[in-house]
Amino acid sequence: MPIALSWIEIDANAIACNLRKFKQLLPEDTKLMAVVKGEAYGHGMVPTALTALRSGADWLGVFHLAEAIELRKEGIISPILILGYTPFDNLAQAIDLDLRLTVSSIETIQAASKAAKLIRKKAQLHVKLETGTNRLGLDDQLLEQAANLFKDDQWLVLEGAHTHYANIEDTTEHDYAKKQLSRFSEMLSRLRDDGIEVPRPHTACSAAAILFPKTYFSMVRVGIGMYGLWPSKETYLSALQRQKDPLKLTPAMTWKTIVAQVKRVPPGEYVGYGCTYKTTRETTLAVLPIGYANGYDRLLSNRGHVLIRGERAPIRGRVCMNLVMVDVTDIPEVTLEDEVVLLGQQAGEQITAEQMADWAQTINYEIVARVDPYAQRNFFESETE
Ligand SMILES: Cc1ncc(COP(=O)(O)O)c(C=O)c1O
Repeated sequence: MPIALSWIEIDANAIACNLRKFKQLLPEDTKLMAVVKGEAYGHGMVPTALTALRSGADWLGVFHLAEAIELRKEGIISPILILGYTPFDNLAQAIDLDLRLTVSSIETIQAASKAAKLIRKKAQLHVKLETGTNRLGLDDQLLEQAANLFKDDQWLVLEGAHTHYANIEDTTEHDYAKKQLSRFSEMLSRLRDDGIEVPRPHTACSAAAILFPKTYFSMVRVGIGMYGLWPSKETYLSALQRQKDPLKLTPAMTWKTIVAQVKRVPPGEYVGYGCTYKTTRETTLAVLPIGYANGYDRLLSNRGHVLIRGERAPIRGRVCMNLVMVDVTDIPEVTLEDEVVLLGQQAGEQITAEQMADWAQTINYEIVARVDPYAQRNFFESETE
């Protein structure tokens, strides 16, 4: 078995502790969904799902059928909601696997009914309600049509209704989220007036779970917080403004590689493609076998740092497809195959997903979700509390 050039260590105990902190926010009868779509935000879906279920998660949230099949194949029998779109031809298989399906069109509801009838098993559906994000979702008019379908059809069970907030993480002013919440409540009460009581409404993501208990309804859907990351600076600030003791979340992911070459370069030499960096002194470079093919963003060129021997080593030149060069002139005794931390902690120093996001002009969600999909995820249990 070849030795990996880059690998990811996941602290299962951090995931468990983070999730328990969310669980403690919830009333007894409010369910907790662990959102494990996108390979559990890059952490590895199956082991994360198993960890989450051991730590108090009641439901799992995925984006599409293939992810749900993988979870069922592992023997996971807990409720799973597909949050994204399920094509017509996959509906029967999804219903057969007892998956809950998000539906956001009349056509899909009709197709789900046909599929359910065909396999003689009821379809358990969650309608996605359009409250102002304007992506998947039924508006008022379509909801009225959908309600009529549910009333008359023995093969359809309207188990849930949900929505997602457009900018709850982006601001400390939550007027828009509040407007979405009241639209959602109005849509539910319109259904009620129509004789339909939805047993499981849900709206809250991590930021909503932290800030607004009114968003909980019967379940919260926690993603980023479970992985130990705050949804945003604004969410943290909003928690402080509301005199809430901010949750102590522990990032679960550390991404590592090794030094593949150490070399001395004289002053006045260029480093890497495009000759974008010129040495100003006798420089020691460490060459790392990691690049944008591994999800190490090219925007980190001449901007990011890595950790070697507990010190920050700045990136020199452009990030290549499979290699990156870092300056270790001021870090004594760097040698071949020294361990390098790309994301996470080493000897008291830390590179956070937020800092990487800043360098790469994105958000912490994207940083973790795009970490090398081919690299091994090694789960371990720390002593974190
Ligand atoms: C529909 C839905 N619910 C919940 C979540 C979880 O959000 P967060 O990671 O902010 O907790 C997401 C994430 O994108 C989502 O799309």
